[in-house]
Amino acid sequence: MTEFDLDVHRDPDGITEALVMDVRSGLTAAQKWLPPKWFYDARGSELFEEITALPEYYPTRAEREVLQRESAEIARVTGARTLVELGSGSSEKTRLLLDGLRGHGTLREFVPLDVSETALAEAVEAIRADYPGLEVRGVVGDFTEHLGLLPGEPPRLVVFLGGTIGNFLPAERAKFLRSVRDVLAEGEWLLLGTDLVKDPVVLERAYDDAAGVTAAFNRNVLRVINERLGADFDLTKFVHESYWDAGNEWIEMRLRALEDMTVRIPAANLAVRFTAGEHIRTEVSAKFRPAGVSSELAEAGFELERWWTDSAARFGVSLARARNVGA
Ligand code: SAH
Ligand code: TRP
Repeated sequence: MTEFDLDVHRDPDGITEALVMDVRSGLTAAQKWLPPKWFYDARGSELFEEITALPEYYPTRAEREVLQRESAEIARVTGARTLVELGSGSSEKTRLLLDGLRGHGTLREFVPLDVSETALAEAVEAIRADYPGLEVRGVVGDFTEHLGLLPGEPPRLVVFLGGTIGNFLPAERAKFLRSVRDVLAEGEWLLLGTDLVKDPVVLERAYDDAAGVTAAFNRNVLRVINERLGADFDLTKFVHESYWDAGNEWIEMRLRALEDMTVRIPAANLAVRFTAGEHIRTEVSAKFRPAGVSSELAEAGFELERWWTDSAARFGVSLARARNVGA
């Protein structure tokens, strides 16, 4: 697999520059934070795949149950010729949709997009091998920036799985949904996976497993900053925490500093002071209620056509149609 098999919308200098900007704004803020996309280098993508198999991490299994049950119906309703997947990762669950759409006979092209070039390259190679005749065009890019570049014959079905929509803050989420709507023509489709509000104990465990994989995943963002920016974060001095914020209805992932320290980040020309007990917010994972999903979709210019959950009602999948939004 060579780079030439992927459309790459990120160059190494651009990535480093973007990380410098994010590190400067996030780590100089009163409440320190980092944007979640930096978890996903090659190691981070591997760790995420391990997370999806953890006994505590139910969202992947719950969403798979729905896709398994409904893929034929999704194919029938949409008749999609192009399947576009945002934040595709390994595209493992997406195979259920590919099967459904192929069975229906309409699918021509699959366009997975991800920031993680290694995860994408592997997924593209595996899917090409298992789906001969399907056009597979991998796009390395940022789904907050590069949606305008998505190829494919209509009708397209854009899928955004894994509850990744919950990793945006509410204002970013509205903007993202609107940007997806903007690249679609009236009548094209969005399939959206949303994790649902439930017992906080179940939620906190899903993001803080006994084997410590999630902790390693969370700390990986510090390793990425060390590697790319020559920083000297000591990963053993930060502990992972998952915290249910009941007011915002989101899980917050944190890295808490165990002692006072100063971290040097040469490529950002920055020295960051931490006091013992202070935390960096590395991610939120919002949990949804059905009524909220439907109103946010409507707000963005989509009409909800179908709503499904797994049998235990832990995870929701919605199929929405881009509606005429006027001028
Ligand atoms: N869809 C898969 C993976 C979910 S994890 C599943 O359901 O299991 C989130 C994925 O989104 C990762 O593969 C990560 O690399 C990707 N990602 C995160 N932020 C991104 C961004 N800004 N642009 C594109 N991809 C992003
Ligand atoms: N999209 C996933 C989610 O919100 C990402 C994720 C799973 C994650 N586990 C994590 C992010 C742990 C940070 C830490 O469920």
